[in-house]
Amino acid sequence: MIKISGFRYCRLGTANLNETVKFATEIIGLELVDQKDGFSYLRCDDSDHNIVYFQGDPQDHTIGLSLDTFEELDAAESKLEALGRPVYRGTDSEAEARRCMGYINFKDTSGNSIDLSVRPFASGTRYFPSRDAGITEFSHIGLKVTDPREAEKFWSHEFNFKTSDWIGWSALMTFDQVHHRYALFPSDKPGIQHINFQVAETDDVMKSNYFLRDRQVRIQAGPGRHSLSGARFVYYYGPDDMIYEYSCGVRMVDENWEPRQFPVNDASFCAWGSKPDLNILESGD
Ligand SMILES: [Fe+2]
Repeated sequence: MIKISGFRYCRLGTANLNETVKFATEIIGLELVDQKDGFSYLRCDDSDHNIVYFQGDPQDHTIGLSLDTFEELDAAESKLEALGRPVYRGTDSEAEARRCMGYINFKDTSGNSIDLSVRPFASGTRYFPSRDAGITEFSHIGLKVTDPREAEKFWSHEFNFKTSDWIGWSALMTFDQVHHRYALFPSDKPGIQHINFQVAETDDVMKSNYFLRDRQVRIQAGPGRHSLSGARFVYYYGPDDMIYEYSCGVRMVDENWEPRQFPVNDASFCAWGSKPDLNILESGD
């Protein structure tokens, strides 16, 4: 069992780096912490960074998870190789670019690019955004998977992910107390389907809802309340059609939590009655 201890970063290619960084700082509310060698590092909390953008293919996504020790990293490398998943061990300079002391990269069962990093850098300065969106945490991602049952099995058998609930075939999974760190979305290709930032309270969700609409930012869903996790949410599109989400009040789960199966319908997605595009649960797009 590979024990994930943290959810660290997303590395995202973008067709227009300057435009995307501008959107991230002025609309999402991220802090630009560094720009180096073509990579722009941004964050929404006191860690070194959470999001990295680079000029490149907008389909090129990598998810960064962390392990606690180099021993665990070595064991993970051996385990993944034994499972028939080729592992790439990053060089020191590549680790430096990921702001950690070491990492490996592999592809999951859907072809998603995953970094396992050790000793990610901390920051000595506090998060200071240019827009106060009320963000408190980089919390979860929607992960596109080509075979949701196979993906769920892979992440729960080989890693310490547990399923908290299902909606249709989509598993919402976590490695800690937060209801979900992954929401699996059936798709014909890998990638990140959405990126979630937790905000402090419902007021922040609603203030951003109006802020986004005022600026003609395309809302994807909400505002609403997720029936599964209890979180109040709003989703919107950024550059490259990446979907971002603010939410608050996500449910915590413990070892006694029993996963529940929900059908794919409006009420499963939103307890308030907002009308989601349920096709995203079928296609991941
Ligand atoms: Fe979400």
